[in-house]
Amino acid sequence: MFMKNCWYVAAWSHELIDDVLLGRTLLNQKVLLYRGSDGKVNAIDDRCCHRGALLSKGRLEGNCVRCMYHGLLFDGNGTCVEIPGQETVPPDLKVKTYKVVDTGRLVWIWMGDQTLVDESKIPEFPYLNDPEWHGFPDYLHYQANYQLIADNLADINHIAYVHTNTLGGSERYVMEQTASPLERFEDGFRLTKWHMNSDLPPFVRKIDKKMGKVDRWNTAEMKVPALFFLESGFSPAGTGIQEGNKEGSHEFHNFQAMTPETEETTHFFWVYMHNKKQDVELLSHSLHDSILEGFHEDKDVIETQQKVLRDDPTFRLRAIAADAPLSHLRWLVSQRIKEESERAAAQS
Ligand code: FES
Ligand SMILES: [Fe+2]
Repeated sequence: MFMKNCWYVAAWSHELIDDVLLGRTLLNQKVLLYRGSDGKVNAIDDRCCHRGALLSKGRLEGNCVRCMYHGLLFDGNGTCVEIPGQETVPPDLKVKTYKVVDTGRLVWIWMGDQTLVDESKIPEFPYLNDPEWHGFPDYLHYQANYQLIADNLADINHIAYVHTNTLGGSERYVMEQTASPLERFEDGFRLTKWHMNSDLPPFVRKIDKKMGKVDRWNTAEMKVPALFFLESGFSPAGTGIQEGNKEGSHEFHNFQAMTPETEETTHFFWVYMHNKKQDVELLSHSLHDSILEGFHEDKDVIETQQKVLRDDPTFRLRAIAADAPLSHLRWLVSQRIKEESERAAAQS
C-alpha cells in the first residue's frame, strides 16, 4: 500500500525533451509522461483504452499521442479525439489522467484522488533554480522498497560505516557527534548532527587539498512519504560555525526523492549542489561522481537488505536509539495510508 494523496516526483523536467514518450510505472500504475507541442507536460494512463497497447510505444502528434496499434488518437486530457475509419468518437472514450506540475526542474505528479489535488503542497527545493547553486540532477533505479531507502537517509550515522572511504571519512563520526533534539512535524522531521574537529571526508578532500580539521554539520529534513533534503557543511575547526560564522566553509545542498515504482522497486531522483564561484563545472562533476560512488555503496546494502527481508517475512527488526527519525517517518506514512483507506471506504 502506498500513500497516494500527495505529490511524488515523476521525472526531471529534462527527461521530457525531444518529443520523448516516457512510460514509467509509478505506484504500480503504468503512466505515460510527455510534453506536448504547447510545452505542457501531460500524464495519462499508459494503456490504450481500446485493446490495452502501450501508448508510450505510440507517436506524438502535437499535443496528442496516437496509439500505434489501431491508430486511436488521445489528447492530453486523455480523451480520444480520433478513430481512424470511424466517423464518430464516443464521448466517454478516454484514458485516465493524472495531475502533473512541471516546476523547479521537476515534474510532480498526484497519483491519488484527483479531486484533492492541492498545488500549494508541492514541496520546494529552491536551490535547484538558484543561479548561485550548481549540480547535475540525476536518477537511479533501485531494486528495493522505497522505505528502505528512506530509512537509510533518515539515519545519517550510516555514513561512518557504509561510506568510510567516500562520504563519511571516519567511524569516529558516530562516536563523537552531537545532535540537536529531533524536531517532529506532522509531515516529517528535522535533525542536525555536529562532528567537531573532524577530518575532512574523502569527497571534500578531492576539491580542497589544503583544508585542515573541520567542524562538520548535517541538517536533514524529511517529508512524507519519502523526500529528503540535506544541508551539509564543513567549516575550519574552531572558527565559530555554531555561532553562525560560515567564513571559509564548504556548504552543500542535497535533494533526494524516492517514488515507488512497485512494492520492491523505486525511482530515485537526486541532485547535490554547491555554491562555488570558480571551476564550477569541474567541481560539479567531482561532487556528482563522488556522491554517485557513495550512492552505489548504499544501493549494494539496501538491495541486499531487500532480498534478505523478502526471504523471511517473519524476521523481526529491532530498533536502536538512532532509529527515532525513521520510526517517526514510517509512523506518519502508515497513519496517512490508514486515513486514505478509511476515506476511500467511507466513499464507497
Ligand atoms: S489498442 Fe490502441 S488503437 Fe487499438
Ligand atoms: Fe548513504
